[in-house]
Amino acid sequence: MSVTIKTPEEIEKMRVAGRMAAEVLEMIEPHVRVGVTTDELDRLCHDHIVNVQKATPAPLNYRGFPRSICTSLNHQVCHGIPGERQLKDGDILNIDITVIHEGYHGDTSRMFMVGKPSVKARRVVEVAHEALWRGIREVAPGVRLGDIGHAIQTYVEAQRCSVVREYCGHGIGRKFHEDPQVLHFGKPGEGLELRPGMTFTIEPMVNLGKRHTKVLADGWTVVTKDHSLSAQWEHTLVVTEDGYEILTLRCDERPG
Ligand code: MF3
Ligand code: CO
Ligand code: CO
Repeated sequence: MSVTIKTPEEIEKMRVAGRMAAEVLEMIEPHVRVGVTTDELDRLCHDHIVNVQKATPAPLNYRGFPRSICTSLNHQVCHGIPGERQLKDGDILNIDITVIHEGYHGDTSRMFMVGKPSVKARRVVEVAHEALWRGIREVAPGVRLGDIGHAIQTYVEAQRCSVVREYCGHGIGRKFHEDPQVLHFGKPGEGLELRPGMTFTIEPMVNLGKRHTKVLADGWTVVTKDHSLSAQWEHTLVVTEDGYEILTLRCDERPG
């Protein structure tokens, strides 16, 4: 497969899908509290996407994934499966939402801190957040994917954290995961050159310890090998004539 350039009509559809994914994260925020199970969060998101938005939760049955959202807790890196575990004071949780609307995908995730996080927990959440934004601020026509990866990697490693290598951002559109792969590490000037109309995600996974990961026996949940805490934030973007537009921006991120 090759990298597609979206038409203005396609970009408008991706704006709608992106806004829906962002809105699910806004909706779920007050529910992410001590005592709630990740299954309950999954049900609330599923019902909102299907009944209110009249859209489709992309993860459900995607390559056999059994739920409508991913919930990755503490040392879980990504692709955590919602279940009966109740949130407790000090947990950090990533919720990753992907919706399909009129055939187009919007994909976004954010961290939540439950109750009072430890200093270490807050730190990995904040480093991952800044890593996403350092990557986003690189995006413009003529820039290369290696520039994005390099901006993320140098920042994260300067903070004495590590960048997960096995999973990456991705092109997105009619398909959940399209070309190109958007690595969160790299060398300046290397890789694909960005052009207006390209749509992709940036979604750095940052570990407090070493970068290595393994997949649990459920076939999905990715965890840090050394059991250190991990955090991830994700946005879907389109390259514009003079920079970027974030398609999954939430109200709590808008200036003013
Ligand atoms: N939303 C994830 C991503 O950012 C992919 C989840 S795949 C699933 O690419 F099957 F686990 F849902
Ligand atoms: Co993604
Ligand atoms: Co995602």
